[in-house]
Amino acid sequence: MSGFAEDLWASLPMPAFLIDPEDRIMDVNPAAESFLNASAKLIKGQPIFDTLAIDAPVDEKIRRARTDQASLVMNAVDVGSGSAPPVTCIVQLAPMVHLTDHVLLLIEPRALAARLGRSMNAKSAAKSAIGMAEMLAHEIKNPLAGITGAAQLLSMNLSKEDLELTDLIVSESRRIVQLLEQVEQFGNLRPPLRKPVNVHDLLDRARKSASVGFAGHMTFVEDYDPSLPPTYVDADQLLQVFLNLLKNASEASGGAPGTIRIRTFYDMSLRLRRKDGPAKVPLTVEIVDDGPGLPPEIASEIFEPFVSGRENGTGLGLALVSKIISDHDGWISVDSVPGKTVFRISLPVAPKDATDD
Ligand SMILES: Nc1ncnc2c1ncn2[C@@H]1O[C@H](COP(=O)(O)OP(=O)(O)OP(=O)(O)O)[C@@H](O)[C@H]1O
Ligand SMILES: [Mg+2]
Repeated sequence: MSGFAEDLWASLPMPAFLIDPEDRIMDVNPAAESFLNASAKLIKGQPIFDTLAIDAPVDEKIRRARTDQASLVMNAVDVGSGSAPPVTCIVQLAPMVHLTDHVLLLIEPRALAARLGRSMNAKSAAKSAIGMAEMLAHEIKNPLAGITGAAQLLSMNLSKEDLELTDLIVSESRRIVQLLEQVEQFGNLRPPLRKPVNVHDLLDRARKSASVGFAGHMTFVEDYDPSLPPTYVDADQLLQVFLNLLKNASEASGGAPGTIRIRTFYDMSLRLRRKDGPAKVPLTVEIVDDGPGLPPEIASEIFEPFVSGRENGTGLGLALVSKIISDHDGWISVDSVPGKTVFRISLPVAPKDATDD
């Protein structure tokens, strides 16, 4: 082996075995030595199946790797090594280039494998983060009520200076309760109760309630396609989606006047593939604002829970939005540059036989 190849072999963090055409171990790396708790000298030349007890038809797989000249992966197999108890591993086989009928066998013990799996599965991580937060929310609310009550009792015979402190306890506790309630609302989301709905009615309701509240400083422009067929959604949940997007757009302007354009159209090209065939989600709603755009450092994560670019944001708004939209088999995407941020939602058309009772 050349120096570099040797270094590479020695640096591999997982046990590696080079198997010759007679299924004997031709070489092992240091990780394999420590996995077997034996020196390379002792291991070399031994039949692979005497050395490793693998709970899977490895002999057949090694033959396949040789004949097909292709690599193979076996997930979750138990690998024993003499006296040590078996460990669940991922086992990989690869034919050696330039060395006829030699096969490389790599073992990845589960601890390492599980760690890799987790990082690839951000969605389930988010789920468990929310589950954890929900449980905490529930546990924190009761003692918090006690703390608030005690502070209010204390405040009854305090000087003005000290009163400021108890007021602070009370107002900060309120803020925490609000946050906890938002977390709980996230967990309580029921499966959508779908009915045929005119999306413009929903948008109008959202716009009206926004303009008398958080969006007082914003101008609305409506760009509706009046010929749109009814969509098939849970009206309450979709209203929450629109309100959240309008609220974010209003907050983005930082209190300065701004414009929010609400656009609807029928997108013929958009199809969302599902296991049971293509589902069409052609009804498109765009909420466009002329604010500063997404903060670049969080732009790729805004749909994750607890990601916020605002001082007092919980970062749950868009996580809720994306959960609701995906529960409706819809799509949501965002395009943002300073001066123009577009949130685009694609929704299904109500089936012809759907009733709205
Ligand atoms: N229209 C927008 N323009 C600029 N930035 C936005 C826009 N919408 C969302 N963002 C950014 O994405 C972040 C995440 O939004 P999200 O609604 O999930 O949480 P939040 O608004 O911070 O808190 P919450 O909605 O729970 O009160 C925001 O904090 C903001 O930085
Ligand atoms: Mg928000």
